[in-house]
Amino acid sequence: MEIKQATYIISSPSFDQAPKPDRPEIAFIGRSNVGKSSLINMLCNNRKLAKISSTPGKTQLINHFEIISTNPSPQRGEGKGVRSWYLVDLPGYGFAKHSQSTRRRWEQMIENYLRKRENLVNVFVLVDSRHDPQQADIDFINNLGKWQIPFSIVFTKVDKNKESVTTKNVTAFLQELSKFWEQLPTHFVSSALTKQGRKEILDFINELNSH
Ligand code: GTP
Ligand code: MG
Repeated sequence: MEIKQATYIISSPSFDQAPKPDRPEIAFIGRSNVGKSSLINMLCNNRKLAKISSTPGKTQLINHFEIISTNPSPQRGEGKGVRSWYLVDLPGYGFAKHSQSTRRRWEQMIENYLRKRENLVNVFVLVDSRHDPQQADIDFINNLGKWQIPFSIVFTKVDKNKESVTTKNVTAFLQELSKFWEQLPTHFVSSALTKQGRKEILDFINELNSH
């Protein structure tokens, strides 16, 4: 799959102000500063699409982008056609510098959106590949399970690690998840800098949008 066009549509403070759910939607979430906006820009080949910042907590609203993609080499049964879908950049969870009430408000906004958005096809949960398993990520993923929301994991910023460190952290994370999950989710490793993982993630999105 290739992305032909990516257009910013709207930033909504709550679920009910988001655009009409008239096409498939793929959302990106993860802790503040994990690289959500960077990954979105990398996937869309557009460095200016989603706002990137070295200050955590930059993305504070539900940001919708309209994507037009094509499928140049379809597998059997897949259309070659042009597709339109929504890509969503969500605010980060667990940002310690905000007050408890602000964090609670964000969490409520995110939970509402995730549980009520009827066209949501998949949530990519981004996890920083530089760290040991973090409780906030495990808790968030377990909540997705409780809410029965389909998700996959993207380990970000792998360009910052030696390969052995990425492997160690990814393995530890999946091992931690296997305490709670019988089946492990699909996962990817990525770098916004080197574009590692781009093709795999786009092909996976294409597959999701084909159903
Ligand atoms: P919030 O919107 O604040 O929650 O952050 P975010 O998850 O959208 O992260 P963002 O994309 O703004 O990136 C945060 C910082 O990490 C920025 O300084 C990015 O340049 C850096 N960054 C993101 N992805 C990568 C990556 O793959 N490699 C490297 N080296 N840096 C990255
Ligand atoms: Mg962001």
